[in-house]
Amino acid sequence: MKHLVTILLFGLAVTVAAQAQSSRVDSLLAAMTLAEKISLLHGAIDPTGEAGAGYVPGVARLGIPAMRLTDGPAGIRTRHPATALPAPVALASSFDPELAYRYGHVMGIEGRARRHEVLLAPMVNIVRVPEAGRNFETFSEDPLLSAEMVAAEVQGIQEAGMMATVKHYVVNNFENDRMRVNVVVDERTLREIYLPGFEAAIRADAAAVMCAYNRVNGPYACDSETLLTDILRDEWGFEGWVMTDWFAGHSLESLVRGLDQEMPGYTIPFSSPDMPLAPAVFADSLLAAVESGRIDEAYVDRAVRRILVQMERFGLLDGEATPPEIDIGAHAAVAREVAEAGAVLLRNENQTLPLTARDLQHLVVIGPTATRPLIGGGGSSRVLPFRSTSTLAALQELAGSQAQIRYVPGLDLDGVPVPTAALRTPDGQPGLLRQGADGATQVDAQLDFTGERALPPGSQWTWTGTLTAPTAGVYELKLQTAGGVGTLSIDGQPVLHTGMFFSDASLIPTADSLENATYRVELQAGQQLSLAVQISGRMPSLPFLPAGQNPVQVRLAWVTPERRAAFLEEAAEAARAAHAAIVFVYEEGTEGRDREALALHPDQDALVEAVAAANPRTTVVMNVGAPTLMPWAERVSAILLMWYPGQEGGWATADVLLGRANPAGRLPVTFPRRAEDAPTASPERYPGVDLTARYDEGIFVGYRWYDAQQIEPLFPFGHGLSYTTFAYENLRVEPDGDGFVVRFVVRNTGERAGSDVPQVYLGPPENPPVPMAVRQLVGFRRVTLAPGEAQEVTVRIDGRALSYWSVEDHAWVKATGRRPLYVGASSRDLRLQTEIDVR
Ligand code: BGC
Repeated sequence: MKHLVTILLFGLAVTVAAQAQSSRVDSLLAAMTLAEKISLLHGAIDPTGEAGAGYVPGVARLGIPAMRLTDGPAGIRTRHPATALPAPVALASSFDPELAYRYGHVMGIEGRARRHEVLLAPMVNIVRVPEAGRNFETFSEDPLLSAEMVAAEVQGIQEAGMMATVKHYVVNNFENDRMRVNVVVDERTLREIYLPGFEAAIRADAAAVMCAYNRVNGPYACDSETLLTDILRDEWGFEGWVMTDWFAGHSLESLVRGLDQEMPGYTIPFSSPDMPLAPAVFADSLLAAVESGRIDEAYVDRAVRRILVQMERFGLLDGEATPPEIDIGAHAAVAREVAEAGAVLLRNENQTLPLTARDLQHLVVIGPTATRPLIGGGGSSRVLPFRSTSTLAALQELAGSQAQIRYVPGLDLDGVPVPTAALRTPDGQPGLLRQGADGATQVDAQLDFTGERALPPGSQWTWTGTLTAPTAGVYELKLQTAGGVGTLSIDGQPVLHTGMFFSDASLIPTADSLENATYRVELQAGQQLSLAVQISGRMPSLPFLPAGQNPVQVRLAWVTPERRAAFLEEAAEAARAAHAAIVFVYEEGTEGRDREALALHPDQDALVEAVAAANPRTTVVMNVGAPTLMPWAERVSAILLMWYPGQEGGWATADVLLGRANPAGRLPVTFPRRAEDAPTASPERYPGVDLTARYDEGIFVGYRWYDAQQIEPLFPFGHGLSYTTFAYENLRVEPDGDGFVVRFVVRNTGERAGSDVPQVYLGPPENPPVPMAVRQLVGFRRVTLAPGEAQEVTVRIDGRALSYWSVEDHAWVKATGRRPLYVGASSRDLRLQTEIDVR
């Protein structure tokens, strides 16, 4: 409650300040040369190297300071450590806007402490495609939940003094071909599903908007007058500025259509047909265009004004402020709280969880992420954590000295160096032929130049030869590197890359901290592969990357079929001998690439099956960022979804497993039973045909689809169990202004304190004016109750939630008539029902 009061005060202060001092912006504009104005409309390289993602130099002679722009959205991403928060999808699972406020506040304080002014967060793209690589980085498939979370997070960020940038505007819902795809989406769907999160962020007064890479109904999002001017400015009254996503500027005329700033604002010699990094246009070409009269200077002024107004609002024109201190402990506590609040207990047969004292006396923990935590997803949201503790270590500490906890990996992530016996140089000697940039050659028995055998900084080498499979089966070949850019080619084709921003390396490094990329191949006994490994310690000539200064390390490792089987067998044996087993499974979501499948890696499914067959008290802990198939779901006793739980995830996971925390996360996305059940299972819808993705499932995204199609999901939207039980009673609904007020009582009917998230859903009238969802979320509340305690919950449904977007009227219109209203523990567990009369 306290922060809400402060938000109000802050809001007032901001309005007054903006009005009182807009004359300052006018005089600055009048004093700026055209070149100075344009220097604010595109980024540049930060001379200090401190900028996490972008830098705008400012105009020193007029007291306009430089601005640093930093990712977001799971913590501050710079080269310095920061609090690595749980993935935004974990935050969304809390269904707790107050927590979203504090999550944002942590980032705002840490950004300001590092002297960064603009946060490139939150991301509020709807989860439409279950495979999409960035699903972990956003909130939900539901627009109302997304809107409530994003608004609170924006307030948290900005009240800490940092500017929030809501991204990526709009319909940037998958990664493959994100820079080229044209999204074809109808007006009603855009309004009802994809825009509300952005609108909520604007209403919460976000300083900036980042337009998306993709096209929307033709033009690029960053070049769309409909999106950037008609909707954003004219309808929503947005007064901040719009920046491009990185390298998403396309034309000078975008300035006229409503784009204000191009990022990162410089051209890099690194473009390819599938990743067209557009050259910067808002710099020299813009200057020339204004001078020649092609672009009216008034548009430059408009954009500069929008930026300066926000700089003034956040005090940046008042001289350098003292940066806040980071309270590392307090921020870690928020990270842990979010991880616990977002923990979703998907299944818990016979109260398998929390672990009993007996379990702890003979427990086996299995799976790599138990000891090597996967704290976040990949891409621009990756944060260098202040610290991190594995769940195994946390469990051992919290369970006390009586506990007997054994760990077995179950999967071999690192493998072993490929032995000499399997390698031959091109002229048949044991080992591989090494060749340097100067042509010098030598034979190496194995390819393992790591640790003390590391190569000098800047080294460039190529190894060639053949690898012969001793037995038949699936082999994993692993390229493991540090300090350079690595490539593994098979039969002349590059199959693995390491050492680059978007590489094939796993988010989990090797035990000796190397990047680790894996290529799987099925081989016959005696089958040969011709291979080449290249390593270059010289970085590509990217302006923001330092030249290689570290020793170059490289290793070619493998996991043979026998070794994989042995790891699996060891895990099953250990599970058989234990009283209870916990298996950790994971999936790596990342920016830049969608997942190839919704299934876990087959070795992980096999591991879960083997452990579950060996031990009847098997719990699966999932470190995934998005819907995942679980063919074994009914054969395990408990499933705990921890998402990517941030730097405190180990402690949070241990707290939940031990019952020190009572899980109360609810699914913000549907988990389907089969990939083909998803609304986007046809290629026209995803990934699109001929670079066109048709969103013709319309508003039937997420649970709206499964409900309309009567498809039983594996776990529905809103689902999540607790260690206690709750009952709902006494539902009453009254008209209230343009909407309704819903009241009901929630009672904790179990024996533990816990939180619950009752959800209010609304159905359509009998003859709906347009196709409508069987039910849609119109409100929710997170409540915490002691055993036996009851509380009356009030949820307000506003007029918008009762409305659909009318394409004829270009306006929200209420869907009138008698409509069913439900209170549920999930979208498929509806406990109370009534009818409201919408007029
Ligand atoms: C991402 C943005 C990010 C930007 C700067 C882009 O690749 O799409 O979300 O803010 O990079 O790092």
